[in-house]
Amino acid sequence: MVGRQAQLEEVLELVRSRRTRLVTLTGPGGVGKTRLALALAAELAADFDGAATVAELAPVRDPMLVVPTIGRSLGLTQLGQADPLEAVVRLVSDHGQLVVLDNVEHLLSAAPEVASLLARCPGLMLIATSRAPLRIAAEQDYPLGPLAVPASPDVTAVAASPAAQVFLARARAVAPRVRLDPDTAPANTESRRNSRCSSRVSRSWLQSRVAAIVR
Ligand SMILES: Nc1ncnc2c1ncn2[C@@H]1O[C@H](COP(=O)(O)OP(=O)(O)OP(=O)(O)O)[C@@H](O)[C@H]1O
Ligand SMILES: [Mg+2]
Repeated sequence: MVGRQAQLEEVLELVRSRRTRLVTLTGPGGVGKTRLALALAAELAADFDGAATVAELAPVRDPMLVVPTIGRSLGLTQLGQADPLEAVVRLVSDHGQLVVLDNVEHLLSAAPEVASLLARCPGLMLIATSRAPLRIAAEQDYPLGPLAVPASPDVTAVAASPAAQVFLARARAVAPRVRLDPDTAPANTESRRNSRCSSRVSRSWLQSRVAAIVR
């Protein structure tokens, strides 16, 4: 992960301080919320004796399925007639458990169920990624801004810029020959300024930019 050490340490401290039960990384699409959440989970897994899971909510359409999806991330497959909230409470209880809720923005009306779950499971810690916070009392909103763009178009400044490094890595996934030199650096700077978000860049836009900087 490039250029997020300060944010990583800040959120780690927040989670470890237990001042909050839910940290929501908020920001626009592609800014790096999921990437940071997964890095946090990797760092924090040992604190929870390895009990760290990811509930992928992007494909979930019904807010009532948020708690069952959390349950599935914990290994609950056969819910049957059981109340999903009760089933998760029984499973987690007061054990230490970290769950990443990835992409919650379209399911914000599940906030009361998430709040109940946290109230019933004292050992549960949640890290959510979302374009907007859930707005529950236990939550700490952590807005994530874009990575730093190059201070100038010269090749050293571009090479040192986290935003350009991520952009170049993404560009190389499409065109492995992309490299940074005095001719391509200004285009790279401009690309990053035009888009804060490499993943949201359409493939054709990325390819056209790459075509401009590939020699
Ligand atoms: N700091 C970083 N270092 C390296 N790669 C990064 C970094 N931040 C983001 N990326 C890469 O940029 C892309 C977009 O990041 P990510 O998926 O985390 O964004 P997001 O904010 O979760 O977007 P969305 O709102 O669409 O879910 C991913 O390919 C990710 O790996
Ligand atoms: Mg994401």
